[in-house]
Amino acid sequence: MGYTLAATIVATIALASNLQLTDAVAPHLTAQSIKLQRLLAPEPSAVETLASEAASPFPQFNFTQPLDHFTDTGHTFEQRYWLSTRHFNPNSTGVVPVFVLDGGETSGTDRLPYLDTGIVDILTEATGGIGIVLEHRYYGASVPVQNFTTDSLRWLNNDQAAADSANFLANVKFPGIDRDLTAPNTPWIYYGGSYAGARSAHMRVLYPDLVYGAIASSGVTFATITDWQYYDIIRQFGPPACVQQLETTVNEVDALLAKGGSARQAIRETFGLGNLTHDQDFEPLGAWQNRNWDPAVNDNTFFDFCDALGTPNSTQVEIAKGVKVNAAVINYAVYVNQVAPPANVPAIISRLITVDYEKLICEFAFPPGEFFTVPALPDIEAVNKLGGLNIAADRLAIIDGQGIYAFNLLEVFD
Ligand SMILES: *[C@@H]1O[C@H](CO)[C@@H](O)[C@H](O)[C@H]1NC(C)=O
Ligand SMILES: *[C@@H]1O[C@H](CO)[C@@H](O)[C@H](O)[C@H]1NC(C)=O
Ligand SMILES: *[C@@H]1O[C@H](CO)[C@@H](O)[C@H](O)[C@H]1NC(C)=O
Ligand SMILES: *[C@@H]1O[C@H](CO)[C@@H](O)[C@H](O)[C@H]1NC(C)=O
Ligand SMILES: *[C@@H]1O[C@H](CO)[C@@H](O)[C@H](O)[C@H]1NC(C)=O
Repeated sequence: MGYTLAATIVATIALASNLQLTDAVAPHLTAQSIKLQRLLAPEPSAVETLASEAASPFPQFNFTQPLDHFTDTGHTFEQRYWLSTRHFNPNSTGVVPVFVLDGGETSGTDRLPYLDTGIVDILTEATGGIGIVLEHRYYGASVPVQNFTTDSLRWLNNDQAAADSANFLANVKFPGIDRDLTAPNTPWIYYGGSYAGARSAHMRVLYPDLVYGAIASSGVTFATITDWQYYDIIRQFGPPACVQQLETTVNEVDALLAKGGSARQAIRETFGLGNLTHDQDFEPLGAWQNRNWDPAVNDNTFFDFCDALGTPNSTQVEIAKGVKVNAAVINYAVYVNQVAPPANVPAIISRLITVDYEKLICEFAFPPGEFFTVPALPDIEAVNKLGGLNIAADRLAIIDGQGIYAFNLLEVFD
């Protein structure tokens, strides 16, 4: 179910900067152009097309939220939600549980299949309950601000988003349903995956009186600044020949970049990146996460990329006088030059990709505002103090393994 909120933003910006940080383009590279790139990026997924708003059998409603739950700004915004009463019998006199699926870091329309054929439909059918998809602030149509400047993003953080959900659970009045279904008068079960999985766990911990139970699917409850393990999973479990080709490529490219001079220029030009300002801008491993058992939503980019790398052998190719590279490097360069990577696919994970470099991307994208400056490092403790990898509570189900927050500036600032 996607990736973390901030990681998505950062990865998309990283892509934008991969595309744009050449000297030739640099004059046009303002923070705003990076953000535009992100805003204009097509919304993903087969899932969304399947569940376009028009086709949705579930009515869409608004819930009014304060822009700021902790300081009165006088501003409010409309938070979008979708209601499924398909399995609810208004004559029932028993307990009516409400299952809320947290939309996480995407438009709520992307999550509508969960109401129709997914976990929410299954749970509401089993219990005669009500199902909800609740859109996250700043996503889809639940955007409280007019633009995405650094200042405007200052109300996008974990505490505000959690307070939105708490306010919704405690106060929502469903149109057409003539009974009090607010928390804690009726049991609310909070569900989410990945970033929204962490939110589910956090909601149970932060608002135990409102959230009767929570299911955190692949919840990323542990925040970390470095996350080399993310790609190491590919090294350990990817197709061995492909991994070997990747290692060869990364080692050779890094060595030539480090050597400098004509070797460095030759390898940059081989990748069509002769004018790059930052060697790190070299970089389809993100596609690993997009594999899926369901052919309708599977993204085969990763395996296409592996095919393009070819099988390991020791053929050397001369790219400039006296500068030879393994044929794998050429295959990689041909792939990068000819195939425009999908919007969520960055290109080699080099050892040059460091925290400082990732910070640079954030600094380009989000220069200091008048009212808010992105902190030098994310406050990971704000997330981990809620339990991190050991998060636990009664009626909190942690399913589908562990997750880790990737480099995450936006979510944890406050
Ligand atoms: C929800 O709020 C948005 C933004 O104010 C508005 O455009 C839309 O018409 C509202 N939808 C409903 C169903 O009230
Ligand atoms: C609820 O009760 C009314 C009146 O007895 C009846 O007409 C209606 O069919 C019932 N609805 C359901 C969903 O059982
Ligand atoms: C962004 O929106 C805010 C109001 O939400 C406005 O005050 C500000 O001028 C806008 N900034 C830009 C650069 O458009
Ligand atoms: C690199 O920069 C030079 C000089 O500014 C320019 O002529 C050339 O077209 C650029 N190459 C690429 C691939 O952008
Ligand atoms: C070695 O790999 C290159 C590039 O993938 C390929 O063109 C070449 O045919 C391969 N050579 C052998 C002997 O398999």
